[in-house]
Amino acid sequence: MDKLNKSSDFIKKLNGIKTSNTPIWLMRQAGRYLPEYRKIRKEAGSFLNLCMNPQLSAEVTLQPLKRFDLDAAIIFSDILTIPMACNRDLKFIENEGPSLKPIKHESEVYDLELKNKNFLEPVYECLNIVKSQLSSERALIGFAGAPFTIAAYMIEGKGSNNFSKCVSFFNNYEKTFTALLKKLEIFISNHLIKQIEAGAEAVQIFDSHAKIAVQENKFKNFCIEPNNNIVKKIKNKYPNIPIIGFPRNADKLYVDYVNNVSIDCLSIDQNTNINKLIDNLIINKERNICFQGNLDPEILLKGGSNMVNSVNNILDKFSSVNHIFNLGHGVIKETPIKNIDLLVKTVREWKK
Ligand code: CP3
Repeated sequence: MDKLNKSSDFIKKLNGIKTSNTPIWLMRQAGRYLPEYRKIRKEAGSFLNLCMNPQLSAEVTLQPLKRFDLDAAIIFSDILTIPMACNRDLKFIENEGPSLKPIKHESEVYDLELKNKNFLEPVYECLNIVKSQLSSERALIGFAGAPFTIAAYMIEGKGSNNFSKCVSFFNNYEKTFTALLKKLEIFISNHLIKQIEAGAEAVQIFDSHAKIAVQENKFKNFCIEPNNNIVKKIKNKYPNIPIIGFPRNADKLYVDYVNNVSIDCLSIDQNTNINKLIDNLIINKERNICFQGNLDPEILLKGGSNMVNSVNNILDKFSSVNHIFNLGHGVIKETPIKNIDLLVKTVREWKK
């Protein structure tokens, strides 16, 4: 209890302890909408150079906390550093997004391995640096992608709306796809454990493309099971580190996810009916689950009184449960800085 009393509001909320404030941080809070980010990004030469440079990525991680009164820093990195560590030729193409060597043959799955055990060391060094500079009222979050979302990029070779190559791969070679998820599950668990050992006080698992698995009736096998295996591995070693799950756009299946994955907090996208979800989840009173979310990033982009109303509305809806304010997805790069100032002010001034 002593230890928790000294921790940030964010960590307290994740542990089910009442605090007078609703903590706030934002997915993609470090990024191109900030001029100070664009400057360092230019200096680094490329996004991946920036991710792999511990001093510069630590600086970028801390930038949003210097500008805004946020409760947590999320380490500046990317979910695709894992395929990069497996030699899948990751590049980021300006205005297009990620590009990787796509997995086409089953043998590529069985041959997949981390090319060098120390490859992701810069990420842990970055955590060390940030931790040494962060005040104790602010928490440090580590993260990774979930196996399904990472596998989707590895097979498709890029981002996509329907990940059709990935869908035909798992329909044709389900056993091999499951073997890929299993391999990724091990890499991801180890990556998260090392982030905790380097100073992460909580971790978030991004299953950003879970909707594809939902549509194909594979959510249980491809998302719930691998996410839960990762959570169990972490909890086995670090039972007190809170874990946030984000099976984005899983909609009605958020309930199944919470009931079958031992997370401490559920992050929710902007397309979900919160009242219904809370009603469906609160039946399970013994599980003091925390909720995170879920302002639409487009509403933040537009700002103004409409945003203020939406923010207050979200805070009201979540007032009966533990809640951490966040977006339903990442900050959009055209977002004006003044809108984030207004968002943080609105969250700080809200009273139950
Ligand atoms: O939230 C944060 O502030 C921490 C940093 C973070 C980044 N990526 C930095 C980033 C986190 C948590 C991620 C996770 C990530 N990366 C996800 C899961 C969350 C989500 O968005 O659904 C995914 C799917 C990726 C893969 C990825 N990385 C894509 C599809 C893109 C291109 C889209 C884009 O915005 O350009 C990226 C690039 C990326 N990751 C940027 C940043 C700041 C932009 C890079 C740049 O400076 O050009």
